[in-house]
Amino acid sequence: MFDILTLNAISDKIYTVLNSDYSVSSDTKSPDAILVRSFKMDEYEINDNLLAVARAGAGVNNIPIPKMTEKGICVFNTPGANANAVKELVICGMLLSARDIVGGNAWANTLTGDVAKQVEKGKKAFGGTEISGKTLGIIGLGAIGRKVAVAAAALGMKIAGYDPFLSPAAAKELPEGTEIVSSPEDIYPLADYITLHVPLTDATRQMINADSVAKMRDGVVILNMARGELVNVADVKAAIASKKIRKYVVDFPTEESVGVDGILAIPHLGASTEEAEDNCAIMAAAQLKDYLENGNVVNSVNFPRLVKEREYRERFTLVGNASKDVDKALENILDGTAHSVSYAEKGSVCYAIIDVDADICAGENSILDKLSDMDDVISVRLLKA
Ligand code: MLT
Repeated sequence: MFDILTLNAISDKIYTVLNSDYSVSSDTKSPDAILVRSFKMDEYEINDNLLAVARAGAGVNNIPIPKMTEKGICVFNTPGANANAVKELVICGMLLSARDIVGGNAWANTLTGDVAKQVEKGKKAFGGTEISGKTLGIIGLGAIGRKVAVAAAALGMKIAGYDPFLSPAAAKELPEGTEIVSSPEDIYPLADYITLHVPLTDATRQMINADSVAKMRDGVVILNMARGELVNVADVKAAIASKKIRKYVVDFPTEESVGVDGILAIPHLGASTEEAEDNCAIMAAAQLKDYLENGNVVNSVNFPRLVKEREYRERFTLVGNASKDVDKALENILDGTAHSVSYAEKGSVCYAIIDVDADICAGENSILDKLSDMDDVISVRLLKA
Protein backbone atom coordinates (compact mmCIF):
# COMPACT_ATOMS: atom_id res chain seq x y z
CA MET A 1 0.00 0.00 0.00
CA PHE A 2 1.28 3.47 -0.92
CA ASP A 3 0.15 6.64 0.88
CA ILE A 4 -0.36 9.66 -1.34
CA LEU A 5 -0.85 13.14 0.09
CA THR A 6 -2.72 15.76 -1.95
CA LEU A 7 -1.73 19.35 -1.14
CA ASN A 8 -4.37 20.82 -3.48
CA ALA A 9 -7.67 19.63 -4.89
CA ILE A 10 -6.74 17.18 -7.65
CA SER A 11 -9.22 15.76 -10.18
CA ASP A 12 -10.85 12.45 -9.21
CA LYS A 13 -9.55 11.10 -12.50
CA ILE A 14 -6.46 9.96 -10.52
CA TYR A 15 -8.57 6.96 -9.51
CA THR A 16 -8.58 5.76 -13.10
CA VAL A 17 -4.86 5.18 -12.51
CA LEU A 18 -4.43 4.59 -8.78
CA ASN A 19 -6.04 1.32 -7.64
CA SER A 20 -6.75 -0.05 -4.17
CA ASP A 21 -3.00 -0.30 -3.50
CA TYR A 22 -3.10 3.47 -3.02
CA SER A 23 -4.52 5.46 -0.17
CA VAL A 24 -5.02 9.09 -1.20
CA SER A 25 -5.74 11.76 1.39
CA SER A 26 -5.19 15.43 2.15
CA ASP A 27 -4.00 14.81 5.71
CA THR A 28 -1.59 11.84 5.58
CA LYS A 29 1.35 12.63 7.84
CA SER A 30 3.96 10.35 6.34
CA PRO A 31 3.25 10.05 2.61
CA ASP A 32 5.24 7.98 0.12
CA ALA A 33 4.39 10.54 -2.53
CA ILE A 34 2.71 13.91 -2.94
CA LEU A 35 0.37 15.27 -5.60
CA VAL A 36 0.43 19.06 -5.75
CA ARG A 37 -0.83 21.88 -7.93
CA SER A 38 -0.04 25.44 -6.72
CA PHE A 39 0.59 24.86 -2.99
CA LYS A 40 3.93 26.51 -2.08
CA MET A 41 6.10 23.75 -0.68
CA ASP A 42 9.10 25.83 0.46
CA GLU A 43 8.20 25.52 4.14
CA TYR A 44 6.79 21.99 3.82
CA GLU A 45 8.46 19.61 6.26
CA ILE A 46 9.67 16.62 4.26
CA ASN A 47 9.06 13.26 5.93
CA ASP A 48 11.82 10.63 5.82
CA ASN A 49 9.98 8.12 3.64
CA LEU A 50 8.89 10.59 0.96
CA LEU A 51 9.94 9.22 -2.44
CA ALA A 52 8.36 11.50 -5.02
CA VAL A 53 6.39 14.67 -5.67
CA ALA A 54 4.27 15.11 -8.79
CA ARG A 55 3.06 18.52 -9.90
CA ALA A 56 -0.21 18.45 -11.82
CA GLY A 57 1.01 21.24 -14.10
CA ALA A 58 4.11 22.34 -15.95
CA GLY A 59 5.78 24.94 -13.69
CA VAL A 60 7.60 23.70 -10.59
CA ASN A 61 8.57 27.00 -8.96
CA ASN A 62 6.37 26.17 -5.93
CA ILE A 63 8.55 23.12 -5.15
CA PRO A 64 12.00 23.48 -3.53
CA ILE A 65 13.82 21.33 -6.08
CA PRO A 66 17.38 21.52 -4.57
CA LYS A 67 16.03 20.39 -1.18
CA MET A 68 14.16 17.50 -2.83
CA THR A 69 17.20 16.50 -4.89
CA GLU A 70 19.46 16.49 -1.82
CA LYS A 71 17.09 14.01 -0.16
CA GLY A 72 16.83 11.83 -3.27
CA ILE A 73 13.18 12.72 -3.91
CA CYS A 74 12.08 12.58 -7.53
CA VAL A 75 10.01 15.57 -8.72
CA PHE A 76 7.70 15.14 -11.71
CA ASN A 77 5.68 17.61 -13.74
CA THR A 78 3.16 17.12 -16.54
CA PRO A 79 4.43 18.98 -19.59
CA GLY A 80 1.85 19.28 -22.33
CA ALA A 81 -1.08 18.00 -20.26
CA ASN A 82 -2.63 21.45 -19.95
CA ALA A 83 -1.09 22.95 -23.10
CA ASN A 84 -4.34 23.15 -25.03
CA ALA A 85 -6.10 25.01 -22.21
CA VAL A 86 -3.28 27.55 -21.93
CA LYS A 87 -3.14 27.94 -25.72
CA GLU A 88 -6.85 28.77 -25.80
CA LEU A 89 -6.41 31.39 -23.07
CA VAL A 90 -3.52 32.99 -24.98
CA ILE A 91 -5.67 33.28 -28.10
CA CYS A 92 -8.52 34.62 -25.96
CA GLY A 93 -6.14 37.14 -24.33
CA MET A 94 -4.94 38.31 -27.75
CA LEU A 95 -8.48 38.82 -28.99
CA LEU A 96 -9.53 40.58 -25.77
CA SER A 97 -6.58 42.95 -26.10
CA ALA A 98 -7.30 43.65 -29.79
CA ARG A 99 -11.03 44.33 -29.27
CA ASP A 100 -12.42 46.06 -26.17
CA ILE A 101 -14.94 43.36 -25.38
CA VAL A 102 -14.34 43.67 -21.64
CA GLY A 103 -14.95 47.45 -21.60
CA GLY A 104 -17.82 47.20 -24.06
CA ASN A 105 -19.51 44.50 -22.02
CA ALA A 106 -19.20 46.49 -18.79
CA TRP A 107 -20.68 49.55 -20.56
CA ALA A 108 -23.53 47.61 -22.20
CA ASN A 109 -24.55 46.22 -18.82
CA THR A 110 -25.07 49.76 -17.49
CA LEU A 111 -27.56 50.72 -20.21
CA THR A 112 -31.27 51.21 -19.58
CA GLY A 113 -34.14 52.46 -21.74
CA ASP A 114 -33.67 52.16 -25.50
CA VAL A 115 -30.56 49.99 -25.28
CA ALA A 116 -30.30 49.20 -29.03
CA LYS A 117 -30.23 52.90 -29.89
CA GLN A 118 -27.59 53.71 -27.27
CA VAL A 119 -25.49 50.73 -28.39
CA GLU A 120 -25.29 52.00 -31.96
CA LYS A 121 -24.48 55.50 -30.76
CA GLY A 122 -21.87 54.56 -28.17
CA LYS A 123 -20.12 51.53 -29.68
CA LYS A 124 -17.37 53.56 -31.36
CA ALA A 125 -15.67 53.94 -27.97
CA PHE A 126 -14.96 50.20 -27.96
CA GLY A 127 -13.65 49.57 -31.49
CA GLY A 128 -10.47 47.60 -32.01
CA THR A 129 -8.07 46.00 -34.46
CA GLU A 130 -7.73 42.54 -35.99
CA ILE A 131 -4.98 40.05 -35.16
CA SER A 132 -4.84 38.64 -38.69
CA GLY A 133 -1.74 39.95 -40.47
CA LYS A 134 -0.02 40.95 -37.21
CA THR A 135 3.15 39.30 -35.93
CA LEU A 136 3.11 37.16 -32.80
CA GLY A 137 6.46 36.69 -31.06
CA ILE A 138 6.57 33.52 -28.97
CA ILE A 139 9.29 33.25 -26.34
CA GLY A 140 9.50 29.55 -25.45
CA LEU A 141 8.44 26.94 -27.99
CA GLY A 142 7.59 24.08 -25.65
CA ALA A 143 4.28 22.22 -25.81
CA ILE A 144 2.26 25.42 -25.17
CA GLY A 145 4.31 27.77 -27.37
CA ARG A 146 4.07 25.41 -30.35
CA LYS A 147 0.30 25.02 -29.99
CA VAL A 148 -0.08 28.80 -29.75
CA ALA A 149 2.01 29.15 -32.94
CA VAL A 150 -0.23 26.77 -34.88
CA ALA A 151 -3.49 28.35 -33.67
CA ALA A 152 -2.30 31.94 -34.25
CA ALA A 153 -1.03 31.09 -37.75
CA ALA A 154 -4.43 29.56 -38.52
CA LEU A 155 -5.95 32.95 -37.57
CA GLY A 156 -3.70 34.66 -40.11
CA MET A 157 -0.85 35.81 -37.87
CA LYS A 158 2.82 35.77 -38.75
CA ILE A 159 4.93 33.90 -36.21
CA ALA A 160 8.39 34.59 -34.83
CA GLY A 161 9.70 32.22 -32.19
CA TYR A 162 12.61 31.80 -29.83
CA ASP A 163 13.63 28.71 -27.89
CA PRO A 164 17.22 27.66 -27.21
CA PHE A 165 16.12 24.05 -26.60
CA LEU A 166 13.97 23.54 -29.70
CA SER A 167 14.55 20.02 -31.07
CA PRO A 168 14.32 19.32 -34.81
CA ALA A 169 11.22 17.16 -34.17
CA ALA A 170 9.53 19.98 -32.22
CA ALA A 171 10.48 22.53 -34.90
CA LYS A 172 8.55 20.40 -37.42
CA GLU A 173 5.32 21.09 -35.49
CA LEU A 174 5.64 24.83 -36.11
CA PRO A 175 3.57 26.39 -38.89
CA GLU A 176 5.22 26.97 -42.24
CA GLY A 177 6.90 30.35 -42.43
CA THR A 178 7.70 30.60 -38.71
CA GLU A 179 10.75 32.77 -38.24
CA ILE A 180 13.03 31.17 -35.65
CA VAL A 181 15.31 33.73 -34.05
CA SER A 182 18.35 33.20 -31.86
CA SER A 183 17.54 35.43 -28.89
CA PRO A 184 14.50 37.05 -27.25
CA GLU A 185 16.03 40.40 -28.23
CA ASP A 186 15.39 39.47 -31.87
CA ILE A 187 11.68 39.00 -31.14
CA TYR A 188 11.16 42.44 -29.63
CA PRO A 189 11.39 44.64 -32.75
CA LEU A 190 9.43 42.13 -34.87
CA ALA A 191 6.31 41.54 -32.85
CA ASP A 192 2.95 43.26 -32.37
CA TYR A 193 2.07 40.67 -29.74
CA ILE A 194 4.58 38.89 -27.49
CA THR A 195 3.63 35.81 -25.49
CA LEU A 196 5.85 34.23 -22.81
CA HIS A 197 6.11 30.46 -22.39
CA VAL A 198 9.28 29.95 -20.37
CA PRO A 199 9.77 28.58 -16.86
CA LEU A 200 10.62 30.98 -14.04
CA THR A 201 14.36 30.68 -13.34
CA ASP A 202 17.06 33.12 -12.26
CA ALA A 203 17.79 33.68 -15.95
CA THR A 204 14.18 34.48 -16.91
CA ARG A 205 13.06 36.41 -13.80
CA GLN A 206 12.02 39.99 -14.83
CA MET A 207 13.11 39.36 -18.42
CA ILE A 208 10.45 41.86 -19.44
CA ASN A 209 11.64 45.16 -18.01
CA ALA A 210 12.27 48.77 -19.10
CA ASP A 211 15.28 47.71 -21.25
CA SER A 212 13.50 44.93 -23.12
CA VAL A 213 10.33 47.01 -23.53
CA ALA A 214 12.37 49.83 -25.08
CA LYS A 215 13.34 47.42 -27.90
CA MET A 216 9.72 46.48 -28.64
CA ARG A 217 7.36 47.97 -31.20
CA ASP A 218 5.18 50.88 -30.11
CA GLY A 219 1.74 49.66 -29.08
CA VAL A 220 2.93 46.12 -28.38
CA VAL A 221 0.71 43.71 -26.41
CA ILE A 222 2.43 41.41 -23.90
CA LEU A 223 0.76 38.20 -22.80
CA ASN A 224 2.01 36.38 -19.73
CA MET A 225 0.32 33.06 -18.97
CA ALA A 226 3.61 31.61 -17.67
CA ARG A 227 4.62 33.21 -14.33
CA GLY A 228 4.09 36.73 -12.94
CA GLU A 229 7.73 37.19 -11.90
CA LEU A 230 8.90 37.04 -15.54
CA VAL A 231 7.74 40.64 -15.82
CA ASN A 232 8.72 43.81 -13.98
CA VAL A 233 5.24 45.16 -13.40
CA ALA A 234 6.34 48.69 -12.46
CA ASP A 235 8.22 48.99 -15.78
CA VAL A 236 5.24 47.64 -17.69
CA LYS A 237 2.88 50.09 -15.95
CA ALA A 238 5.18 52.98 -16.93
CA ALA A 239 5.21 51.73 -20.53
CA ILE A 240 1.39 51.49 -20.54
CA ALA A 241 1.18 55.06 -19.27
CA SER A 242 3.46 56.26 -22.10
CA LYS A 243 1.45 54.16 -24.62
CA LYS A 244 4.53 52.10 -25.55
CA ILE A 245 2.59 49.03 -24.38
CA ARG A 246 -1.03 48.80 -25.47
CA LYS A 247 -2.04 45.98 -23.12
CA TYR A 248 -0.48 43.60 -20.63
CA VAL A 249 -2.48 40.40 -20.24
CA VAL A 250 -1.42 38.49 -17.13
CA ASP A 251 -2.67 35.24 -15.62
CA PHE A 252 -0.78 35.90 -12.35
CA PRO A 253 -2.10 39.19 -10.95
CA THR A 254 -0.61 40.78 -7.83
CA GLU A 255 -1.48 43.88 -5.80
CA GLU A 256 0.59 45.81 -8.34
CA SER A 257 -1.25 44.63 -11.43
CA VAL A 258 -4.94 44.65 -10.50
CA GLY A 259 -7.20 47.62 -11.17
CA VAL A 260 -4.81 49.14 -13.70
CA ASP A 261 -6.09 50.51 -17.04
CA GLY A 262 -4.27 48.62 -19.77
CA ILE A 263 -3.69 45.50 -17.67
CA LEU A 264 -6.03 42.60 -18.22
CA ALA A 265 -5.65 40.56 -15.04
CA ILE A 266 -6.92 36.97 -15.17
CA PRO A 267 -7.07 34.96 -11.91
CA HIS A 268 -4.68 32.12 -12.92
CA LEU A 269 -7.15 30.37 -15.20
CA GLY A 270 -4.68 29.11 -17.81
CA ALA A 271 -4.98 25.47 -16.81
CA SER A 272 -8.39 25.73 -15.17
CA THR A 273 -10.46 23.72 -17.58
CA GLU A 274 -12.04 20.38 -16.75
CA GLU A 275 -10.05 18.76 -19.53
CA ALA A 276 -6.68 20.15 -18.44
CA GLU A 277 -7.27 19.35 -14.77
CA ASP A 278 -8.18 15.77 -15.68
CA ASN A 279 -5.23 15.38 -18.06
CA CYS A 280 -2.72 16.74 -15.53
CA ALA A 281 -4.10 14.59 -12.72
CA ILE A 282 -4.00 11.41 -14.81
CA MET A 283 -0.48 12.09 -16.09
CA ALA A 284 0.87 13.01 -12.63
CA ALA A 285 -0.73 9.94 -11.03
CA ALA A 286 0.51 7.61 -13.79
CA GLN A 287 4.07 8.93 -13.46
CA LEU A 288 4.00 8.49 -9.66
CA LYS A 289 2.61 4.97 -9.96
CA ASP A 290 5.24 3.86 -12.46
CA TYR A 291 7.97 5.31 -10.26
CA LEU A 292 6.67 3.81 -7.01
CA GLU A 293 6.01 0.37 -8.50
CA ASN A 294 8.69 0.03 -11.17
CA GLY A 295 11.21 2.79 -10.50
CA ASN A 296 10.65 4.20 -13.99
CA VAL A 297 11.19 7.93 -14.44
CA VAL A 298 9.39 9.93 -17.13
CA ASN A 299 9.09 13.74 -17.03
CA SER A 300 11.11 14.43 -13.92
CA VAL A 301 12.68 17.85 -13.48
CA ASN A 302 15.51 16.61 -11.24
CA PHE A 303 16.02 12.92 -12.16
CA PRO A 304 17.15 11.58 -15.54
CA ARG A 305 14.64 9.81 -17.73
CA LEU A 306 14.99 6.04 -17.18
CA VAL A 307 12.54 3.32 -18.17
CA LYS A 308 13.37 -0.38 -17.93
CA GLU A 309 11.50 -3.63 -18.58
CA ARG A 310 11.87 -6.05 -15.65
CA GLU A 311 14.54 -8.67 -16.39
CA TYR A 312 15.23 -10.56 -13.15
CA ARG A 313 13.21 -11.43 -10.09
CA GLU A 314 14.39 -8.60 -7.82
CA ARG A 315 14.40 -4.92 -8.71
CA PHE A 316 15.88 -2.07 -6.78
CA THR A 317 16.71 1.54 -7.53
CA LEU A 318 19.58 3.72 -6.45
CA VAL A 319 19.78 7.51 -6.21
CA GLY A 320 23.18 9.11 -5.80
CA ASN A 321 25.46 12.00 -6.59
CA ALA A 322 26.42 12.08 -10.27
CA SER A 323 29.96 11.83 -11.67
CA LYS A 324 31.37 9.92 -8.70
CA ASP A 325 31.83 6.56 -10.39
CA VAL A 326 28.72 5.22 -8.70
CA ASP A 327 28.05 3.07 -11.77
CA LYS A 328 31.44 1.37 -11.55
CA ALA A 329 31.11 0.74 -7.81
CA LEU A 330 27.68 -0.72 -8.52
CA GLU A 331 29.08 -3.14 -11.11
CA ASN A 332 31.81 -4.25 -8.65
CA ILE A 333 29.24 -5.08 -5.99
CA LEU A 334 27.06 -6.99 -8.47
CA ASP A 335 29.97 -8.88 -10.00
CA GLY A 336 29.21 -12.63 -9.90
CA THR A 337 25.41 -12.14 -9.69
CA ALA A 338 23.26 -12.27 -12.81
CA HIS A 339 22.06 -8.71 -13.16
CA SER A 340 21.16 -5.90 -15.51
CA VAL A 341 21.67 -2.21 -14.76
CA SER A 342 20.23 0.90 -16.42
CA TYR A 343 22.03 4.02 -15.29
CA ALA A 344 21.65 7.71 -16.14
CA GLU A 345 22.62 11.11 -14.82
CA LYS A 346 20.95 14.52 -14.82
CA GLY A 347 22.62 17.53 -13.21
CA SER A 348 23.91 16.45 -9.82
CA VAL A 349 21.78 13.29 -9.68
CA CYS A 350 22.61 9.77 -10.81
CA TYR A 351 19.89 7.18 -10.90
CA ALA A 352 19.99 3.46 -11.56
CA ILE A 353 17.40 0.73 -11.97
CA ILE A 354 18.92 -2.65 -11.19
CA ASP A 355 17.41 -6.08 -11.76
CA VAL A 356 19.19 -9.03 -10.11
CA ASP A 357 18.69 -12.76 -10.02
CA ALA A 358 19.30 -13.03 -6.28
CA ASP A 359 17.75 -12.13 -2.97
CA ILE A 360 19.47 -8.80 -2.43
CA CYS A 361 18.47 -8.66 1.24
CA ALA A 362 19.85 -12.14 2.09
CA GLY A 363 22.81 -12.67 4.37
CA GLU A 364 24.69 -10.51 6.81
CA ASN A 365 26.56 -8.43 4.27
CA SER A 366 23.76 -8.38 1.74
CA ILE A 367 23.89 -6.66 -1.64
CA LEU A 368 21.44 -4.08 -0.26
CA ASP A 369 23.73 -3.34 2.72
CA LYS A 370 26.78 -2.97 0.47
CA LEU A 371 24.94 -0.63 -1.85
CA SER A 372 23.59 1.49 0.96
CA ASP A 373 27.14 1.84 2.36
CA MET A 374 28.59 3.02 -0.97
CA ASP A 375 29.99 6.54 -1.11
CA ASP A 376 27.74 9.09 -2.81
CA VAL A 377 24.62 6.97 -2.52
CA ILE A 378 21.62 8.98 -1.29
CA SER A 379 19.10 6.14 -1.19
CA VAL A 380 18.51 2.57 -2.28
CA ARG A 381 14.99 1.19 -2.64
CA LEU A 382 13.87 -2.39 -3.03
CA LEU A 383 10.73 -2.63 -5.18
CA LYS A 384 7.97 -5.21 -4.85
CA ALA A 385 8.06 -7.99 -7.44
C1 MLT B 1 1.18 25.17 -14.83
O1 MLT B 1 2.28 25.41 -14.32
O2 MLT B 1 1.07 24.35 -15.75
C2 MLT B 1 -0.06 25.82 -14.28
O3 MLT B 1 0.29 26.84 -13.37
C3 MLT B 1 -0.92 24.77 -13.67
C4 MLT B 1 -2.02 25.24 -12.76
O4 MLT B 1 -2.83 26.11 -13.08
O5 MLT B 1 -2.13 24.69 -11.64
